[in-house]
Amino acid sequence: MSPQQSRNDTRYQLINQNGQNPPAKPSSSASEQSAGSPARRAAHAKPARNAAASDPHLRTRRSFLKLGTSVLGVFTLAEITGTSLLFLQPRSLEGEFGGTLNAGPADSFPNGSVTEFPAGRFFLIRTDDGGFLAAYRRCTHLGCSVSWEADQDKFVCPCHGSHFDFHGNVENPPAPTALDIFPLQIVDGDVQVDTGRAQSRDAFEPAQLVYA
Ligand code: FES
Repeated sequence: MSPQQSRNDTRYQLINQNGQNPPAKPSSSASEQSAGSPARRAAHAKPARNAAASDPHLRTRRSFLKLGTSVLGVFTLAEITGTSLLFLQPRSLEGEFGGTLNAGPADSFPNGSVTEFPAGRFFLIRTDDGGFLAAYRRCTHLGCSVSWEADQDKFVCPCHGSHFDFHGNVENPPAPTALDIFPLQIVDGDVQVDTGRAQSRDAFEPAQLVYA
């Protein structure tokens, strides 16, 4: 038997005894692949995370970020709430229609006069005996604005021909009732008219007059 044939026989015996080829020696590349598996990485990463958690600098930074986020959230909520409250607040209408309008000193209105206040949409009527009446300029038919025609001594609606007398009573239909009036009072000598509360009436009555 040649030396070469002897080596082949020995290899043949080894294969038959194990029933399979001898296990191949793990290659260095396979070892590297195994070390790079997710399980291995997790095993290696865990101590790193633990180390990070125990790092006081990292803990401080995380706490600071959490605190900053919370403060920002509180400020945002406060701003939204404040803006909503501003919208919900009733708007002051003082000096314009819908609010209280100061017409000026009562003494400045002569008896038997009619003075228009376009901003308040009313006529301030002062009767011959000095009483005040604030008549809404809206026609009681369909809401057109009436005008005071001094030469005719009446209020005239341009839409359908209604007329109203000096006190706002209907002189000519189709307007069904007298001109509405606004509550008024004399405060420190000034006539103040509340244009936010129009009051309907069938006709003029002396009790509607306010005196200084
Ligand atoms: S709206 Fe004034 S008469 Fe019709």
